[in-house]
Amino acid sequence: MAENLWDTKLYDGKHNFVTKYGEDLLALLAPQPGERVLDVGCGTGHLTAAIAQAGASVLGMDSSEEMITQARAGYPDLTFVRADVTDFQLEQPFDAVFSNAVLHWVTEAAAAAQCMARALRPGGRLVVEFGGKDNITQIASSVRQAIRAVTGREQAHQWYFPSIGEYATVLESAGLRVEAAWLFPRFTPLEGETGFRDWVRMFRGGMLGPLSDSELETVLQMAEDSARPALYRDGRWHADYTRLRVTARKALN
Ligand code: BEZ
Repeated sequence: MAENLWDTKLYDGKHNFVTKYGEDLLALLAPQPGERVLDVGCGTGHLTAAIAQAGASVLGMDSSEEMITQARAGYPDLTFVRADVTDFQLEQPFDAVFSNAVLHWVTEAAAAAQCMARALRPGGRLVVEFGGKDNITQIASSVRQAIRAVTGREQAHQWYFPSIGEYATVLESAGLRVEAAWLFPRFTPLEGETGFRDWVRMFRGGMLGPLSDSELETVLQMAEDSARPALYRDGRWHADYTRLRVTARKALN
């Protein structure tokens, strides 16, 4: 899993579109009163709380200590647990496993799929969305070129952005039957004139590697300049997101 130190205030502030778009995914989950739902990569817990509001019994799970601390502080009545999606086991099975904007951090996709499948009861459903094939191509290439120019280093990003076919194979190998899948662009507005560099700083753990402070400033400036023609539109910065959304079901036998 790519490492990132999370600034929960920045995550909930300038990047709160992550939660906003997740509300759309919640409609697909359609949590029912009394259902048991596992929210994988719950972050600061806002979607976990929305699932609880629908009357479901929900457990929020995240590998980040900062996120879990913030989620517990924000929603003291809900239950949150710190665990790694590639290595967890829970006693009671769930009716549904939900995950929004997290699984692109998890390069061990097969291990994650196995753990999520094991957490479901037979017939239980998986509803997930994350960065899919061609996600942030422009952001990543601007940053990669800038790092190359400043340090001479080739720095590949460390995220997992599969196609529908690749991810369906991963899920099916874990005993899940894919029911629907979508891969679609979501050109996402970022906040303010520093939107591009704020995004790169926020998610630096997956793409920058070791840089001194002055190298970082030069990389950000060069990357911003080269990304501007593609990503600065109508007076705003955008992230060139592509979303992979999948629903799947655990086989009954
Ligand atoms: C995404 O939502 O696509 C994303 C977020 C952070 C880093 C990489 C991708």
